[in-house]
Amino acid sequence: MRIALFSTKPYDRTSFEEANEEHGHELHFFEPRLTPDTVQLARGFEGVCVFVNDQVDGEVVHALADGGTRILLLRSAGFNHVELEAADGRGITVARVPAYSPHAVAEHAMGLVLTLNRKLHRAYARVREGNFALDGLLGFDLNGKTVGVIGTGRIGTIFARIAAGFGCRVLAHDPYPSDEILEFGARYVELDDLFGQADIIALHLPLTPNTHHLIDGDAVSGMKEGVMLINTSRGGLVDTRAVIEGLKSGRIGSLGLDVYEEEEKLFFEDLSGTVIQDDVFARLLTFPNVLVTGHQGFFTREALAAIAGTTLGNATAFEGGGGELHGVTLEAVKA
Ligand code: NAI
Repeated sequence: MRIALFSTKPYDRTSFEEANEEHGHELHFFEPRLTPDTVQLARGFEGVCVFVNDQVDGEVVHALADGGTRILLLRSAGFNHVELEAADGRGITVARVPAYSPHAVAEHAMGLVLTLNRKLHRAYARVREGNFALDGLLGFDLNGKTVGVIGTGRIGTIFARIAAGFGCRVLAHDPYPSDEILEFGARYVELDDLFGQADIIALHLPLTPNTHHLIDGDAVSGMKEGVMLINTSRGGLVDTRAVIEGLKSGRIGSLGLDVYEEEEKLFFEDLSGTVIQDDVFARLLTFPNVLVTGHQGFFTREALAAIAGTTLGNATAFEGGGGELHGVTLEAVKA
């Protein structure tokens, strides 16, 4: 299949070319994001492959269909950036990578916890300047603390297991509880109870219309004083302005983000020579107790290989070449 890959970086080319040795598709790598302005690049490509910040809205879907695209290959698990109804209406199949390395994201989330708690980001800078003072670097023992995990699917379950390994008490919230996390002593509670009891809250649920701004001003006001909040899922789960108020009042003691509501204007690019125009994001960066990474939770060798393998496997299966097609159906989303 002729496949146009959008938003590609050198590391995508490497992992896709390696994985393609098994599949033999014709790959064309494009650096720009897929948007209404760039969609013409996809003309004549049966397969179009996109990442999380590509803009696959109705306008783009119609332009893709007009240009002959028949399958949209998502290099991600999440599909909140795709106008599925439009794709369904124009007969474009949507396929995704349901799981690539839940370990990568869960381990990154715990990395944010450890860094924020022991202020490793500040210690690193201090020591390099010859400043060995410890004031301001005081942390707490994770052992015995209560960790609240919201969303106990693939990533949340692994994160909960890692937290339990540190000796934390794990509280969980999910409309579809899993037995697996009960095995290491976790307990399911209502959201308000989790907010009220957790010392650390980690978000591992998808962004949907129901979960948009799950963490708003009300949620923050129900949290324990000095709580640590970690979001490696999707930016829209958190009302950033409400969280900034929480940081200013001290209700939120520290914040670790790998995702941000308006990240598509910022992440995955080197903007170090430009002035950031997003004042909300810029405010976040002024807090010493906020750590932001640029959507790198997935970024391990294992995950990149799995993403490339499953994506090209979806294309092969679509052509009838065998293997499983990991389709996203409108019915499944509405269910
Ligand atoms: P998953 O589908 O395995 O699990 C999600 C869980 O959230 C399910 O158990 C579901 O029942 C639960 N859930 C749904 N609505 C909920 C609600 N209102 N309250 C509590 N729980 C709810 O998903 P997975 O693979 O564990 O991914 C979790 C998140 O991580 C997704 O948002 C995904 O987009 C994000 N992600 C982030 C990456 C990164 O690089 N930072 C990479 C991969 C995924």
